[in-house]
Order: sequence, then C-alpha cells, then structure tokens
Amino acid sequence: MKKSVFTAMLLAVTIGASAQKPAIPRDAALEAKVEKKLASMTLDEKIGQMLELNFDVMGKMAVSDGKRQWVLNETMLDTIISKYKIGSILNAPGTKAATVKQWQEWIGLIQEKSMKYIGIPDVYGLDQNHGVTYTQAGTLFPQPINLAASFNTELAFSGAQITAYESRASNCPWVYNPVLDLGRDPRWPRIWESFGEDPIVNARMAEAEIKGYQGDDPNHLGRYNVATSVKHYFAYGAPFTGKDRTPAYVSPQMLREKYFEPFKAAIQAGALTIMVNSGSINGMPVHASYEYLTKWLKEDLQWDGMIVTDWADINNLFSREHVAKDKKDAIRLAINAGVDMSMDPYSVDFCILLKELVTEGKVSMARIDDAVRRILRLKYRLNLFDQPNTGGKGYEKFGSKEHAEKALRAAEETEVLLKNEGNILPLSKEMNVNGNSVNRKILLTGPNANQMRCLNGGWSYTWQGSNAEDLSESYNTIYEALCNKYGKENVVLEQGVTYNERGQYWEENAPQIEKAVTAAKECDVIIACIGENSYCETPGNLTDLWLSENQRNLVKELAKTGKPIVLVLNEGRPRLVSDIEPLCKAVVDILLPGNYGGDALANLLAGDANFSAKMPYTYPREINSLNNYDYKVSEEVGTMAGAYNYDAKVSLLWPFGYGLSYTTYEYANLKVDKTQFTADDVLTVSVDVKNTGNRVGKESVLLYSSDLVASLTPDNRRLRQFTKIELQPGETKTVTFKLKAKELAFVGADGRWTLEEGDFLLKVARLSTKTACTKTKIWDEPNI
Ligand code: BGC
Repeated sequence: MKKSVFTAMLLAVTIGASAQKPAIPRDAALEAKVEKKLASMTLDEKIGQMLELNFDVMGKMAVSDGKRQWVLNETMLDTIISKYKIGSILNAPGTKAATVKQWQEWIGLIQEKSMKYIGIPDVYGLDQNHGVTYTQAGTLFPQPINLAASFNTELAFSGAQITAYESRASNCPWVYNPVLDLGRDPRWPRIWESFGEDPIVNARMAEAEIKGYQGDDPNHLGRYNVATSVKHYFAYGAPFTGKDRTPAYVSPQMLREKYFEPFKAAIQAGALTIMVNSGSINGMPVHASYEYLTKWLKEDLQWDGMIVTDWADINNLFSREHVAKDKKDAIRLAINAGVDMSMDPYSVDFCILLKELVTEGKVSMARIDDAVRRILRLKYRLNLFDQPNTGGKGYEKFGSKEHAEKALRAAEETEVLLKNEGNILPLSKEMNVNGNSVNRKILLTGPNANQMRCLNGGWSYTWQGSNAEDLSESYNTIYEALCNKYGKENVVLEQGVTYNERGQYWEENAPQIEKAVTAAKECDVIIACIGENSYCETPGNLTDLWLSENQRNLVKELAKTGKPIVLVLNEGRPRLVSDIEPLCKAVVDILLPGNYGGDALANLLAGDANFSAKMPYTYPREINSLNNYDYKVSEEVGTMAGAYNYDAKVSLLWPFGYGLSYTTYEYANLKVDKTQFTADDVLTVSVDVKNTGNRVGKESVLLYSSDLVASLTPDNRRLRQFTKIELQPGETKTVTFKLKAKELAFVGADGRWTLEEGDFLLKVARLSTKTACTKTKIWDEPNI
C-alpha cells in the first residue's frame, strides 16, 4: 500500500466523538470526595500517586529464620512512601508466591505507612491471571485459553469471582487481568493468556470476568471484589515477527473492527483500569499515542478509568522505540498521550522528571489533575480509604474444597477431544481378552506426563511457572491422576523424553526413547503426553513452530510397536504435529488446564466426564499456512480455468470451533425471522439441537455470518454469538439468538461502521439460511 493512502486511512479512522454517555455512570458523592482530596494535594503528592514501583526494590534476598528469603527493608519503604509519596506497588517480591499471612503483613504495612504519610491508600497490583498466581495454596484455574475453549462464560465469571475473593484474602485489591489481546498468531508466546483468536469470544469472556472480579457496581466494589486491568491495549498479540514485544502492522479496519472490540466491551462492562501494549502499531508506540489512549478510550467512550503503563514502558519510548530522546522526553510524550500511572519498577526518577516538565510547562497541571483524579477515583471505588486492608475473618473459603471443585469442573470443560478413531476413548479400566476381563495396561509417556509445571503454564507461583513444583506438590500430575483412576499397577511411566528443568523452557535432556518403546511392548495402550514446558512473555519466544524433534520421534518410534496411541497435547500454543497426528488413534488437546487438569483428563479419558470443549484458535498444519478462521474468501479458492494453477488453500489441522464429544449432536431447522432487514432491526435466529447419542453432553452452539458481497473484501465468515447448552440423550433444545443487525457490520474504507445492502448467510454447524439487508447504513463509534 502506498504510504500516502495508508496515512489517509489512518486519519480516516479518527472518528468524531459522539454524544456518548459515560461508560461507568458517575456517582456524585464519590466524585465530590475525589475533588476534595485532589484540592488538598501538593504537586509532589500528585506526581507520587502517578508512580508504581516494584516491591522488590524495598527489600532484598537474605538469610532469615534459617532460610534464604526476601526480607523487607522497612526504612526503605518509609522513605519511598514519605519522600516520594508513591501511589502503587506491584509484584511478588523474590518473584515467588508468598503465604496469605505474609501478604496481609506486607500490604498491611504499606497501607499503614501510606495512610500515615500521605493519607491516601496504596493500590497494590498483582498478575492473578488464572487464580491467585502469587499466593500459596490458593486456587489455580485453567488458563484463559482453556476458558475460551469451553465457550462457557459462566466458567469465566465464577473463576474470576473466586480469584477476586482469594486475592482480597491476600489483601490485594487490583489484578492485571483479563488479557484481551487476540491470540491470532500461533508463534506468539502469550497466546495462552488470551481467549484465543476471535474478538467476540474475547469480548464475552471479558464481560463475564469483569463482573466476576468487580461485582455489579463499578463505583462501589465490595470486600470480595478487585479492580481489573484489562490488557495489553491493544494489538499486542499481533507482532509481525511472532516475537513478544515487537511491532505490529495492522490495517486500520482490522484494528478497529477486531482488536479494539474486546477492549470496548470491557470498558462498557465497567473495567476500571487498562494496561497498555508495550509495542507499536503501524509505527506508533501505543504508550505515545494520544489518538489511541485519550481519544479512543477516554473521549470516544467517555471512560473515566485509569491507564497504567506496562513494565518500564515509558523508558522503552527512548530506549527501544526511539520516539523520545531521553527519559524526560519519554515521560512528556506518554503523560500527554494519556498515561495516568507509570509502572516504572525500579526508579523514582519519574517523580523528579515529571515535576520538571510541569514546571517548564511541558505537561499541564490540567493533565496531572486528570491523571490523579482517575487514580483517586479508582481508590475510592475500591473503598480503600475506608477499608485499606482486607483478609482474615470472612475469608475462610480461601483455597477451599468448594473452590477446588469449581476448578476441576472448569478443567473438564476445557480439554478438547480432537480425534477418536474407532471410539478408542473412553478407555475403560478393563478389557476383554479371549472372553476374559483383564485390567488394561497403560504406558504413560512423554515429558508432560508427570509434572505440574506444564499443566499450569506461566504465571503459576512464579512468573515463568518454573521452580515452583514444591508449591504444587499436593495436586495430581497426569501420572498421579491416572494411577488414582486405573490403579498404580496398571500404569507404567516411562517418559522417553524429559525437559531440562534447569535450562530454558524448550531444553530437553538426552532422550531415552528405547526405554519407552520397550515398556510399550508390555502394555495395551500408549498415552503420550507431549507439548511444551511452561514459559511466559519474551522468554517464551521460539524459533520453530514444529514441536520438538525428540518428542515427535518418541511418538514415531512408539507407533512402530503397533500399540494404539492416545496423544495428549499440553501446550501454550498450537505447535505443529501434522507428521505424528496420523499415527495416533485419539488426540486430546488439554491446553493449560491448571492444577486440576490431570484429574480432569483422567475423568475424561475414563468416560466419567464428557468432552465439550472446542478449539479457541485455528490449529495449523503447516508453517506457511498460519490462518485464522475468518480469512478472506480469496485465501481459499479453486484453480482457475487455463494452464496455470492460481488456486489458494487454507491448510489447517483442526479448525477454530472444532471439538468432539462422547455423544453426537444433530442440528436442524435453522431459521431467521426476517428475510429482509435494516440496521436498526433485531434478527431472531433459532436452531434445534438434538443429542443423538447415549450420554448426557454439553454443546457450544456457534452462530456465524457471511457477508456475501461488500465494498471491502468480506471475511469468509465471522462468529457473531455463541451459547452452551446441556442435553440429555435424545433431548432436543431450541436455541434462540437475538442478533442486532448492526452486529453484522464491518469497518469500511473510511474507518466507519458500515452495514451494506445485500445478502448475508447465517450459519450454525452445517446449516445456513439467507437474509438480506435492504438499506446501507454507515455510522461512527460507538457501535450498537
Ligand atoms: C507484562 C504484564 C504484567 C506486568 C506486571 C509485564 O512484563 O507484560 O502482562 O502485567 O509485567 O507484572
């Protein structure tokens, strides 16, 4: 695309603000408190509120009580709060999960000093991503990518609600979650932190989690609620290189229509804070973009929440992005763009430099006041002034059986059955040999067979999820869960390939494949648990999407024994396995199911629970075909007439939305109530779903649309709505979707929402029905 055209398109997306009502309704009494406090503050106090430091800088690792641990330096904490008046602290010191008691003491002390020296409580933040990452003995749920696979927003809601409760039990009121970066690139190491590749799945899961975390009233959070920080605004998951924290190049249409969508939904659902993408979009670092931060969020959506940077990202504006000449220049850019709080983990320079900028008139007092107002508002909304501490009495359900049960049920709903040739699964304990019933002998193999670390993934007790096996000892690995299910005497563990726990996440020890092959000869079935070890962020970058050669060789050698193989994939992203998939009778992708993932798998493999998850992203077959499900029609066309082959093919292993069950479903009678509609109509779409098998099952019903002709090449299909139902054997339910016609719109060449006259197909499963828009309508944000 020529540069001038491209720039013009970017400008075109600068959409005029509409008379929008505030995303979060204003509470006059609360606002009055904010104004009163603001009016009493000095410039130093205001600037201090705008800085967030890493707790690590307030202590050090030392030997205490006979063990090496992080020890707080109270004098340092005193100085930081009394002198610099900082408003927020984050992270787990020593970067490992602490006990509830320890958190209560630490944050309790921070609050005591904050109230004493500045009269404003601290807002402590932690990455409680799939449960309380940083509190020992808390409940860890399946990772977000699993929740997406469940297509069940109830699970997202209840997981977030429990996490909020357990986070408050640990005295932490602010979580850096949910992650709404669309996981559209299989190479990106944070795809598992997201809800997968579709904007609507991300949007609906975000709404559910925000309600679960924050409760129903964003102005008055209760003692069991936490504020969310939806992140990383936005298109952070679209790095051109596939490597974390590298530039994204996304068309203005795609940015608005897909990447912005979940953030818009989150804001409209009441999200109180947003964390910014560390990278750049089309050359513009998001931390420096007035357009994206102030215009799109604060003005267009009338959002009065608070924007926090990601880790040291103002520094990156000069050190990595080269859009500022030094740190002071970078602070000027970011604060003027709309950043309210700088997560500058290791330095208080921010306070000094921002004060200079204000004195020199390079950052206005009005901007400072706006930022501080947003920070104070957050603290009042969290009720921290009246109740700076939580935990203790009333939090007895922390890490309870009740919470564990929810995490187990969630895990069962998030593991995806992708292949089941000859109905080899479920795998009963006994098998018939010459008319006699004998116990089935299972060979359990592969590097993921006996480790909690890879079930949990990153953000589990530690940042990378490594060096934390001591904290997850009480939960069952796949091996332990299968022994409980099938009897220890019937499960032979011979891993063949193991990870090097002291190395990088991808390092493996010298393989011992022959041992596994020998063991297989004595067994009836092989369960091969392969995939990835845990990782997070940039250390999770990779050089080759193919699954490790050792692991694929393990499966290839085992296949030569002729014993049936059940392949269990346990991985944070879809690693290529197309050469070994044909060698396996069954495939289950458990993704990252958390502490109860092994038990859930045992229940599913044995048939004590039924599979109901579907793929949250497209699983590629080949490295040069990394499509998403909503590809353009021209990416999949047949050969044209004549001598030359001009075809295009989408080559994938398992499509988005694909997943099997132990029962079967039949879809019939797809109907839409209007064969013609205009933009303000609501379409009622219904379909009958019947359980035609002999087991109870849950089925996710996905409604897609295809715009058949449009002024910009339309996507072949788009998910518009989804729901999940439970059906008894033989039972039929009619599922009804209320689809606003505006949901069928796209962002046009001029950056505006566009619903064009013409035919649409509505699709559910293999059924489709036609309807037509009779009048074109074009409008600005906010959509719908
Ligand atoms: C990550 C964020 C995280 C933050 C604070 C950053 O490195 O990108 O996702 O919330 O650290 O721990």
